[in-house]
Amino acid sequence: MKSRSPSTLRPLLLLFFASPLLASAAKLGETCSADGECDAGLRCDGCDGQPGVCVRIKPYDPRSKGKDLPFNEYSWLTTHNSFALSGAKSDTGAALITFTNQQDSITSQLNNGVRGLMLDMYDFQNDIWLCHSFGGQCYNYTAFQPAVNVLKEIKTFLEANPKEVITIFIEDYVKSTNGLGKVFNASGLMKYWFPVEEMPKNGSDWPLLSKMIDQNHRLLVFTSIASKEASEGIAYEWNYVVENQYGNEGMNSTSCPSRSESSPMNSKSKSLVLMNYFPTNPSPKTACAVNSAPLLGMLKICHDLSADRWANFIAVDFYMKGDAAEAVDVANGHMVCGCDNIAYCKANATFGTCEVPPPMPSPTSPASSSPVDASDASASGRLSKFFKMVAIAAILLLEFSSY
Ligand SMILES: *[C@@H]1O[C@H](CO)[C@@H](O)[C@H](O)[C@H]1NC(C)=O
Ligand SMILES: *[C@@H]1O[C@H](CO)[C@@H](O)[C@H](O)[C@H]1NC(C)=O
Ligand SMILES: *[C@@H]1O[C@H](CO)[C@@H](O)[C@H](O)[C@H]1NC(C)=O
Ligand SMILES: *[C@@H]1O[C@H](CO)[C@@H](O)[C@H](O)[C@H]1NC(C)=O
Ligand SMILES: *[C@@H]1O[C@H](CO)[C@@H](O)[C@H](O)[C@H]1NC(C)=O
Repeated sequence: MKSRSPSTLRPLLLLFFASPLLASAAKLGETCSADGECDAGLRCDGCDGQPGVCVRIKPYDPRSKGKDLPFNEYSWLTTHNSFALSGAKSDTGAALITFTNQQDSITSQLNNGVRGLMLDMYDFQNDIWLCHSFGGQCYNYTAFQPAVNVLKEIKTFLEANPKEVITIFIEDYVKSTNGLGKVFNASGLMKYWFPVEEMPKNGSDWPLLSKMIDQNHRLLVFTSIASKEASEGIAYEWNYVVENQYGNEGMNSTSCPSRSESSPMNSKSKSLVLMNYFPTNPSPKTACAVNSAPLLGMLKICHDLSADRWANFIAVDFYMKGDAAEAVDVANGHMVCGCDNIAYCKANATFGTCEVPPPMPSPTSPASSSPVDASDASASGRLSKFFKMVAIAAILLLEFSSY
C-alpha cells in the first residue's frame, strides 16, 4: 500500500492535536468565561479577582450507590439565609439595607442539590415575611419578600421531584398565634409535613430515607422557638439537632463549640448534626477561600468532636463558591460506604469497599483524592490550556516552515 505523502499527513496531524481544544468543553478546574464552556454539570465562576474556573456546585446524590439508610446517615448541602440574595429588591419597594448571603433563587438552589434551607421569618404587614433584621423587628429596608412565595417554590420543587426531601430551619421571630401554621397551610406544603410525633426523641435513628419518601413525609421543619413544639406542632430544632456556633466564633480550626441553644456537639441524644461554617460578615469575595480547604478541615474537626458523627447539614454562605459540594460528598462518602468521598463508593458493595480512581492526567478531576483548591485548580487549568496551545503552535510552525 502506498504511504500517505507528508502534505496530506500534516493537516491530519494538526486536526488530531487541535481537536481536544476545539471539541472538548472545559473540565473541572479549567479556566472559562461562561457556563456554556464548561462540561455538563459544571458552572463557570471566578474566585476573588481570579479568572473564571469551571466548578461543580451540585453534590453527588448519596443514594446513587444503592444503599438505603436512615435519614440521619446522609449529608445535605444547606444554605445559610437562603432567601437573602445578592441584588434582590424588597417587595415593599424600599431599597434593601442589609447583608446578603446567597446568589440564586430558592428554586435554583434546589435544582443545584441544596436540601437544607435556613429562613428567617418575621411578622410583617399582617403576614409572615423573610427578613434579615435586628431586634426581632422587620423593616421595609430589611424585608425581602412574603415567606409564602418561597414556600410555594419549595412546594413546586417537591411536587416535581417526588423522591426529594427538604429541611427548613426557621430562625423564628413570628409572635402571631399560628402565624407559621397559616403560612405553611397557604403554601400547600402541609401534605409533605414530617409529623413531629414521629421524630426520634432520644437519639435513635430516623426512618429510612426511602420510607420518608414512600410516606410523603418529605418536608422537615424546625423552629428556633421551643414552645411552638407543644403549642403548634412545629419541631423545636435543638430537641433533634446539635449545631455548632455560627459566625467568626465558630470558625476555629481546633474546636467545634455548640451554639448556646444546642446540646453539646457530642450529645448522642440528638440524632442530627448541623455544621455552620460562614463568617459573621458574609462576603462573596472571601466565600471561595472559606468554602474550600478550611470548610473540609472544619468538617473533620466537627466530626471528631461530635461523637464521631459527620454533619448531616453543612451550612454555608455563597454555596456556589468554593467546594461546598465536595464537603457534602466527603461526609456522604464516610456515612454511606466508609470511603473518603461518595464518588469512591462502589455501588451495592459492603461497607469500606472503595474505588479510588487512578490519578488522572489533570490533577483537578472531580475524583482527585484531595480537595480541589480553587486557586490550584485555576492554575492547572491554565497550564493544561497552555500546553495545548504550545502543541498547536508547534504544529503550525512545522506546517509553515515546510513551505
Ligand atoms: C444496586 O442494587 C439495587 C437494588 O438491588 C439495584 O436496583 C441497582 O441496580 C444496583 N446497582 C448497581 C450499580 O449494581
Ligand atoms: C413600607 O412599605 C409599604 C409597602 O409595602 C408601604 O405601604 C409603607 O408606607 C412603607 N413604610 C415605610 C415606613 O416606608
Ligand atoms: C391549616 O389547615 C387545616 C386544614 O384546612 C386546618 O385544620 C388548620 O386549622 C390550619 N392551620 C392553621 C394554623 O391555620
Ligand atoms: C427511643 O425512642 C424510640 C421511639 O422514638 C423507641 O422505639 C426506642 O426504644 C427508644 N430507645 C431508647 C433507648 O429509649
Ligand atoms: C479556638 O478554640 C480553642 C479551644 O477552645 C481556643 O483555645 C482558641 O483560643 C480558639 N482560637 C480562636 C482564634 O478563637
